[in-house]
Amino acid sequence: MTAKRVLVAGGAGYIGSHAAKALALAGRIPIVFDDLSAGHEHAVKWGPLVRGDIRDADALRAAIREHRPDAVMHFAARIEVGEGEREPVDFYENNVGGALNLMKVMLEEGVNTLVFSSTCAIYGDPERLPLTEDLPKRPVSVYGRTKAMVEQMLEDVSRARGLNFAALRYFNAAGADMDGEIGEEHDPESHLIPNAIKASVGRGGPMKLFGLDYPTKDGSCVRDYIHVSDLADAHIRAADRLMEAPGNVQVNLGTGDGYTVLEVLKAVETATGRPVPYDLAPRRPGDAVALLADPSKARALLGWTPQHGIDDIVSSAWNFHRRVWGMGNEPALQRAK
Ligand SMILES: NC(=O)c1ccc[n+]([C@@H]2O[C@H](COP(=O)([O-])OP(=O)(O)OC[C@H]3O[C@@H](n4cnc5c(N)ncnc54)[C@H](O)[C@@H]3O)[C@@H](O)[C@H]2O)c1
Repeated sequence: MTAKRVLVAGGAGYIGSHAAKALALAGRIPIVFDDLSAGHEHAVKWGPLVRGDIRDADALRAAIREHRPDAVMHFAARIEVGEGEREPVDFYENNVGGALNLMKVMLEEGVNTLVFSSTCAIYGDPERLPLTEDLPKRPVSVYGRTKAMVEQMLEDVSRARGLNFAALRYFNAAGADMDGEIGEEHDPESHLIPNAIKASVGRGGPMKLFGLDYPTKDGSCVRDYIHVSDLADAHIRAADRLMEAPGNVQVNLGTGDGYTVLEVLKAVETATGRPVPYDLAPRRPGDAVALLADPSKARALLGWTPQHGIDDIVSSAWNFHRRVWGMGNEPALQRAK
């Protein structure tokens, strides 16, 4: 059994729009539910857009009644870690309240398959690497705590009410659609690769590099970058698995390979052919030295293997931005599959 019709909450955003495209390419029907608070109408191209807020039970119920999804993918959240510290009420209301409302309406309407966007931020500063799913959840930010809370709620609701869920703990989502149709357009943008690309082409001045005094090979933080289309693929696999074998899945989604910030800047310089100017800033509180996934559980449970490495990640992001900025329309990159 496969999830044919999928409600994609937050499907006008970065990762959700890539999931909607992947669903359509796999012959499924993505129904995007998004309030466009951070997403873009132009990123919804592969199915209907229902404009609504996940905190609005009536709007969700109406969308589910009209479109009868087999499953829900839940991407809708406030995501900027620094904003979470300044606006915790908003973050708890959106991320925790919104998810609770979504679960409630799903159960009322008999939709019991949910794929949830979780994050490696639920682990906080890890006691060992690579990160395996059994490590304790000790988030160090409001954002991370909202995600850990939703995972807890999912476990409780699942146990009592038979909701089947997958909590997919992404590491650093990055890159863009290999066809260059959609990409990362956050505002404000806090992610490394788009900011490095912008700095490299002189948009908005030098980027900020937070700390060069970490105990790593070049002093900058190590992260595990995972291509957004690999994340999209994992969502479809997870939804299908839950339809086939009801239950719960909690897995890390990363490659297991770590890159320092300076290594990523090098890759951006190679792609754009220009240097990436940066200003050195102090470490940000809560930034771990290194975060690396052990992706073996996702491989075993979902048959998922990332298809794109750092070069695809950087070149697809560059390809997308160059098109958006009218800097030349490059042909689509080679699809890995
Ligand atoms: N980007 C990453 O590196 C990363 C890493 C780990 C986890 N995640 C999680 O993945 C998900 C998607 O992240 P993204 O980078 O695509 O973010 P995004 O901001 O691009 O997309 C989120 C979408 O949800 C919508 N939305 C927000 N609140 C809503 C609400 N109350 N009702 C309806 N729609 C709402 C926004 O309009 C936006 O389109 C988030 O849940 C995020 O926490 C992202």
